[in-house]
Amino acid sequence: MLVKSMEWLQDRLRLLDQTRLPKETRFLDCSDYRQVVEAIRELRVRGAPAIGAAGAFATVLAAQELGRQAPSDFRARLEQAASEIASARPTAVNLRWAVRRVLRASEGAKTPAESVALLLAEAHLIQQEDEAANHAMARFGADLLPQGATVLTHCNTGALATAGHGTALGVIRTAWEQGKLKQVLATETRPLLQGARLTTWELQQEGIPVTLMADSAAGFRVSQGGVSCVILGADRIAANGDTANKIGTHMLAVMAKEYRVPFYVAAPTSTVDLDTPTGADIPIEERKPEEVRGFAGVQTAPDGVPVYNPAFDVTPARLITAIITERGVVRPPYTESLKLLFREQQAERPGARHG
Ligand code: MRU
Repeated sequence: MLVKSMEWLQDRLRLLDQTRLPKETRFLDCSDYRQVVEAIRELRVRGAPAIGAAGAFATVLAAQELGRQAPSDFRARLEQAASEIASARPTAVNLRWAVRRVLRASEGAKTPAESVALLLAEAHLIQQEDEAANHAMARFGADLLPQGATVLTHCNTGALATAGHGTALGVIRTAWEQGKLKQVLATETRPLLQGARLTTWELQQEGIPVTLMADSAAGFRVSQGGVSCVILGADRIAANGDTANKIGTHMLAVMAKEYRVPFYVAAPTSTVDLDTPTGADIPIEERKPEEVRGFAGVQTAPDGVPVYNPAFDVTPARLITAIITERGVVRPPYTESLKLLFREQQAERPGARHG
């Protein structure tokens, strides 16, 4: 059974606290939207699609609270809480996208109770669609891998980072099920070790062979040959294909290009932001210096040493071989291929809007 990053329980959101993994499986029950905002900021729930879904459920919690208070300006106050939720972390567009989507779904509500019901139904839909999207992109992605593939991945893009199965890790899972995968090479992903703590944990549970390496070993490993491809996720894909993802991604893309290793990004269309023209327009989250000066309460650098701690970097589109989505695999030039992806989507789902 795959681990679930979150579960809605009648009137509250249960989150698996990912900061405790792999040592402890501890859950956090949130009945106040502010707890979810805190959990997103502290990476108790993390990964672009997962924080999108958590943000959607947090908006339901805000509506429940306001419904109990029954203020005359219910909608205005709900929108205020929603904007607080949407800005908990700035880079992953899925968060803003999901919060806007649930708000839009509840626009016609006549009472707070009706609003709660519409918000909740839409939040569940986002969760279900994300899981289905993961399976669809996993099939497209697995087709790109050669038989006996050795795949290098970065950060955690698995069931923990999504509503289930995973994006890049979903491709890896499906390739394993199809008997195509030999092994996974996982980076530690400093400073918060999502690769070491979460990706290896998820893969070990399913018996998928994985070797962990320090981020600084990845370049040498690629240069040694035998890496079939690099595959990882995204927090935001700009209209021209530039991709924000976990810090260290850009470095891997440069190495992959140098050694002619295909470099794939796997992400649902909810991560594509056509309103952001290029990578230069993507806001990059800077996190606390303590995350680099030490880990888990153990200090590894002198007190007060200045720290540079961007959570993400931007990989230029020219380094990306293909982007794998639930709608299919898109290739350069991305300005055209991504636009086409959305045109097809809108043609099939009248009234569907992104953003
Ligand atoms: O800071 P995190 O752990 O939320 O960063 C996560 C990533 O960068 C993932 O690669 C991305 O969100 C895609 S998850 C399917």
